[in-house]
Amino acid sequence: MRECFCLLLCVLHFTEGCHVSGHKELKVVTGYTGGSVLLPCSCTDPQSTVKTLRWNHYHKGKKQWIEVFKHEEFKDRLKLFNERLPTNLSLLISDLRKEDEGDYSCQISQTYTDFRVTIKGCDLDQNKPTIKVTGHSGESVVLPCSCTELQAKPEQLTWTFTPLNPGINPEEIYPHERSERHTGRVKLLNETSPGNLSLQIVNLSEEDQGEYHCSVSSQRHVSFTLTVQVQTSEGNSIKSLFILLSVLSVVVLLVVLALIYWKCRGRRDVQKTNNGLVLVCSENEKQCDVSPNSATHRENLKQDENEDEVTYSSVVHVKTASKPAHIQTDITEHSEYASIK
Ligand SMILES: *[C@@H]1O[C@H](CO)[C@@H](O)[C@H](O)[C@H]1NC(C)=O
Ligand SMILES: *[C@@H]1O[C@H](CO)[C@@H](O)[C@H](O)[C@H]1NC(C)=O
Ligand SMILES: *[C@@H]1O[C@H](CO)[C@@H](O)[C@H](O)[C@H]1NC(C)=O
Repeated sequence: MRECFCLLLCVLHFTEGCHVSGHKELKVVTGYTGGSVLLPCSCTDPQSTVKTLRWNHYHKGKKQWIEVFKHEEFKDRLKLFNERLPTNLSLLISDLRKEDEGDYSCQISQTYTDFRVTIKGCDLDQNKPTIKVTGHSGESVVLPCSCTELQAKPEQLTWTFTPLNPGINPEEIYPHERSERHTGRVKLLNETSPGNLSLQIVNLSEEDQGEYHCSVSSQRHVSFTLTVQVQTSEGNSIKSLFILLSVLSVVVLLVVLALIYWKCRGRRDVQKTNNGLVLVCSENEKQCDVSPNSATHRENLKQDENEDEVTYSSVVHVKTASKPAHIQTDITEHSEYASIK
């Protein structure tokens, strides 16, 4: 009898109803239009069973609490996570709208936890005067427009174009490319942040000149005036002629420098006189040494020539340095030609 009572207690314990954690608490959550919010809710005891779960929302228009899963406004925008874990009662609301703002409640039996949800929408900086943008024909241009909250996606966005010619009505270019002249040439730059509403126009032409409006509602818009500068082919040829001239002058300068260098180098070379004497020309002294007084000098000279990579040269061996009178004949007799690599 006593064991039976214990078993009953145990069964009762396992089938005990869920008590919402954070009973009677109020959490503040912020979301952005077009984004999503997760409202966390769970049972205090993960082993408990959930019999009745209600997610309620205080509807401002109806001025009463409504059950979100039974309401058209939330159709296909709600998600629960209790499949894997039955006591995870969190609610995900996606594709948020401004109207979703307000109070929510996770309720099980007699326990509940509340949420105050704020939804930030797309607002444009209205105080800006008309922005002047200049582009060049054939190139692309970006008309910068963005929500004050870059995470917020505008509930509606339109870009319109009014040509310069008077009497022509504004044409929609985004999202519907009603303006034929812009077909396939406009792109919204919202890839990184949904609140970036900047418009890129590629392959500009003079006809793109005019007024552009970025608007997220009938009252909220930013205006631009686009001017397209035409780049003439004449301008291009003058540009290339200028480039050609500057390249040419650099080449001429290099040639002149090379000539000067080559001349200076040539002066250091050993020159042979008509009568076979070796002239040593010094750059500093600017005079040539014709007296063959020192044999070692000549050997040095030979080495110098080697270093200077002269391929062919005459080398004179003077053995009778003490008798300058006989040098002339000696030289002619003892002259030999050596090729030096
Ligand atoms: C419930 O599931 C959501 C989504 O997977 C997760 O973010 C959250 O942490 C879970 N909560 C609990 C209490 O397990
Ligand atoms: C960019 O805008 C297009 C058209 O409004 C929309 O379909 C797309 O989801 C947006 N991308 C992002 C990242 O918000
Ligand atoms: C919008 O996107 C473009 C292209 O990625 C970027 O150059 C620009 O800075 C963005 N604007 C803002 C306000 O982040």
